[in-house]
Amino acid sequence: MADLIAEIQALEGKAAQAIAAAADAEALAQVAQEFTGKKGALTGIMKQLASLTPEQRGEVGKAANAFKAKLDELLSAKEAQLTELKFSALAETEFLDLSVTPPQFSAVGKTGDYCGHIHPITQTQRRLEQIFTSMGFSIVDGPQVEDDYHNFGALNFTDDHPARDMQDTFYTQAQGGAGPAADRTSSLPQATGHLLRTHTSTVQIRALESMKPPLRIIAPGRVFRYEEVDASHEHTFYQMEGMIVDRKVSVGNLLHLMQTLLTEVFGKQVDVRLRPGYFPFVEPGFELDMKCLVCNGRGLREDGLPASAGPGASVLRGCSVCKHSGWVEVLPCGLVHPNVLRSAGLDPAEWQGAAFGLGLNRLVMMQHGIEDIRHFMAGKLEFLRQF
Ligand code: PHE
Repeated sequence: MADLIAEIQALEGKAAQAIAAAADAEALAQVAQEFTGKKGALTGIMKQLASLTPEQRGEVGKAANAFKAKLDELLSAKEAQLTELKFSALAETEFLDLSVTPPQFSAVGKTGDYCGHIHPITQTQRRLEQIFTSMGFSIVDGPQVEDDYHNFGALNFTDDHPARDMQDTFYTQAQGGAGPAADRTSSLPQATGHLLRTHTSTVQIRALESMKPPLRIIAPGRVFRYEEVDASHEHTFYQMEGMIVDRKVSVGNLLHLMQTLLTEVFGKQVDVRLRPGYFPFVEPGFELDMKCLVCNGRGLREDGLPASAGPGASVLRGCSVCKHSGWVEVLPCGLVHPNVLRSAGLDPAEWQGAAFGLGLNRLVMMQHGIEDIRHFMAGKLEFLRQF
């Protein structure tokens, strides 16, 4: 019996050596097999137990258990060591430097090493998204090429309603024979019934189609109009629609939302005025105007004169952003018209809504004192680099 115990104790030294020598996880598993596997050294010794008395078996069993415990301890220590080695080797061979030092802005006119950044409209859009998601709103999206139904029909513009004229846009033409069969004989361009959306209010309809009230959404995006382009009108611009639909919604809720929006964006209370405004999809409808921050509500702006006129010389000109009025329309809004709710299958006796259509370009112009809306799309780096 003493021989067996000595044999077991001798295994410990051998095992420690073999484990230390194992170069990877596979070799380690093999060492474990060699000692405690079916054909392992310990198993061989244990087969001889049959010839011993129960007491002697107990003694040998104890030694065997002690050995197993020691073996486990050595194996797991070695395993941890191998894993660590593996990762530090990976860190050496697969090292990726993720820290990039952006090139510095170059001198004006030299664009070679210019590093781009987020467009000022996107910066403000993201800030607004933060503000509204913090108030439980979801951000939703809709297509820029729309059908007449989502842009006009479902928003309570009947086919021949004069309000359609306020939002003329670009219509798509079918190529070679698409569209109604009766039109195919005509030599005129054929309308496919699609248009570039004139406002983000289309997403009000899309949200009502796909979501169940109560709901709160915002929908930022690009819109298009067939506009006479000037300092405050562009053919392509950005809006952010907002809509809440719930069982009880008031003008008070709407005003609170818009006030929060403006104070958060400007970091201070701004001067606003509310006027009645007509949009077929709201009732009542309003225009919320902001005091023009480009001319400080004066309607007049100081313009620098050429250097030849002497240092600091300037002249007062009418402010082109607010059209000399001192006020800028930024937030048309209102309570959702019952016909809009009906077109989405909602009962206006049960559900009410409020909506606004923020003019993003104009808001950004107020934020930064930008005097001409055409700068946004001009692609001029001298302009963009300032934000
Ligand atoms: N969609 C309107 C426009 O672009 C603005 C608007 C949105 C008005 C929501 C009321 C409510 O002119």
